[in-house]
Amino acid sequence: MKNTQTANTNECNGTETDINQAFLNISQVDMVFPTPTGGFTALKDVDLQIDKGEFISLIGHSGCGKSTVLNIVAGLYQASKGGILLKNKEVNEPGPERAVVFQNHSLLPWLTCYQNVELAVKQVFSDKMSKAEMKEWIEYNLKLVHMDHAMFKRPDEISGGMKQRIGIARALAMQPEVLLMDEPFGALDALTRAHMQDSLMEIQSELNNTVIMITHDVDEAVLLSDRIVMMTNGPEATVGEILDVNLERPRSRLSLAKDVEYNRLRSEVLTFLYEKQRKVENISSKSAPAKTVEKRCVNES
Ligand SMILES: Nc1ncnc2c1ncn2[C@@H]1O[C@H](COP(=O)(O)OP(=O)(O)OP(=O)(O)O)[C@@H](O)[C@H]1O
Ligand SMILES: [Mg+2]
Repeated sequence: MKNTQTANTNECNGTETDINQAFLNISQVDMVFPTPTGGFTALKDVDLQIDKGEFISLIGHSGCGKSTVLNIVAGLYQASKGGILLKNKEVNEPGPERAVVFQNHSLLPWLTCYQNVELAVKQVFSDKMSKAEMKEWIEYNLKLVHMDHAMFKRPDEISGGMKQRIGIARALAMQPEVLLMDEPFGALDALTRAHMQDSLMEIQSELNNTVIMITHDVDEAVLLSDRIVMMTNGPEATVGEILDVNLERPRSRLSLAKDVEYNRLRSEVLTFLYEKQRKVENISSKSAPAKTVEKRCVNES
């Protein structure tokens, strides 16, 4: 059940049976945050059905509610209305089958990088793996993110991008059914970022995890996703349009750069962000070349 909504119709086409059979069902979610001046409705009627093994990107301008959606799916926030069903079971607390890579790389500062990953691995595998197997598995995941050289350092001894990589290793090491990633590669340099994107595509095709990834990077969204979910600006943000990405896998960034369909999809997302959901914030385009403005918008949003 992939296409509950499409970029062109923006209407829910999912049948009753489809919705009940969805692996992960985000059903008519509202989120109202209490504020000193009254309730702030961040999300209104967010509705999305996701298949097992699907790779979903969430894209939208800053403050529209992407992290809030992710935190509700993670079980860290409780929706004010509606809710989440994972394999038809209601989600109302965090669980090891849903690993999260946080926007602000939340490592435990008193533990080394190795121990941060170990904590998660023990939580999931302590009765399935021997001590030696766990050690090997932790080291394997640290190598995967190119952080084996720093495994005995503490978070305050490494850079922001490195912390983010440890957070990714920690999440991947749990082999979660659902991987929730909040701008996982935002703080990485271009080379590491490309390496991590390729690794993620490989891991996901091997393990068939369901992924929801928040990104501000349009190319990253098209390269990695089966569907790109584009959110409207808040307050009362909701799913605006959903774009199916039917590019063949495995995907290579180099060959896709000249691919007509890839470029069409890319331009659909840019049109949504900068025409249909244009942010009213004043970004001067007079002094900067068009390319710079586009890049700045993506980074800011
Ligand atoms: N605990 C809270 N209390 C009140 N308002 C909140 C709270 N958390 C988030 N918000 C508001 O809800 C809206 C959505 O926030 P959220 O962090 O989900 O946005 P986002 O799309 O992830 O933004 P960004 O791209 O900048 O990370 C924002 O207007 C934010 O100010
Ligand atoms: Mg966020």
